[in-house]
Amino acid sequence: MSARPGIRFDSVTKLFGTSSGQAHRAVHDVTLSVADGEFVCLVGPSGCGKSTLLAIAGGFEQPTSGRVLIGETEITDPGTGAVTVFQDYGLFPWRTVRDNVEYGLQVRGVPPAERRARALAELDAVGLGAFAEWHPHELSGGMRQRVSIARALAVDPAVLLMDEPFGAVDAINRARMQEELERLWCEHERTVLFVTHDVDEAIYLADRIVLMTPGPGRIAEQIDVTFSRPRVRGSGEFFALRSRILETLHLAGTESRTEFEI
Ligand SMILES: Nc1ncnc2c1ncn2[C@@H]1O[C@H](COP(=O)(O)OP(=O)(O)O)[C@@H](O)[C@H]1O
Ligand SMILES: [Mg+2]
Repeated sequence: MSARPGIRFDSVTKLFGTSSGQAHRAVHDVTLSVADGEFVCLVGPSGCGKSTLLAIAGGFEQPTSGRVLIGETEITDPGTGAVTVFQDYGLFPWRTVRDNVEYGLQVRGVPPAERRARALAELDAVGLGAFAEWHPHELSGGMRQRVSIARALAVDPAVLLMDEPFGAVDAINRARMQEELERLWCEHERTVLFVTHDVDEAIYLADRIVLMTPGPGRIAEQIDVTFSRPRVRGSGEFFALRSRILETLHLAGTESRTEFEI
């Protein structure tokens, strides 16, 4: 497999226009590198700009200033190399599971026989090989989310962007899906940038946790999670790190304010 370049945010700031004519600063001066094969979790309260950062990395939004690079290539549109898995799965209801997984390959012009084989291989990898000809509405939420992960992996992205992918999944399936994702990540050594507001999820999954302040989103602190995988959710080190993160997020929250500017 080819070397993957990782992703780099270079002084990224994003202002959105509002109906009152003021500009709302959603993200402020974020500089962040995710190395090839690294799993980084962005953690912060709702509205702190996590999805905005991912949308910029995915090429769906342009930064107001700064830039995002995969290797030496600046991301300017959704075709640049990062693929996003969304919380609401983003599946086409009229397509079968296999046709959904084939979609990205079809857009890229991969011939039918090859895209079928790749889709089936990715579905096997996420344990859904037997459901290839089913439709999304016949599956549970957890299974649908696995389809959307298979679809993202099928195009062999340089970077996998995940925006609260398990936010709509119940607690038991959520833990199971975190374990599956970790297994897939260990097997494929993907570069992953994963957004969550669930501190435990971040500690379970991440090599490094990036804590953000409430709006405008800035990086408050970065923490390497060094204990071995798979991590034990009830362990002392897990609990100690959770306490430290919650305290940092609380402090960041009390020091922050929402900024508007002309
Ligand atoms: N398209 C948009 N237009 C205007 N404001 C937006 C838009 N997208 C996000 N925002 C604002 O930017 C801030 C960050 O939003 P978002 O990135 O969705 O936060 P998070 O994902 O951390 O919950 C919020 O205040 C939100 O209202
Ligand atoms: Mg969001």
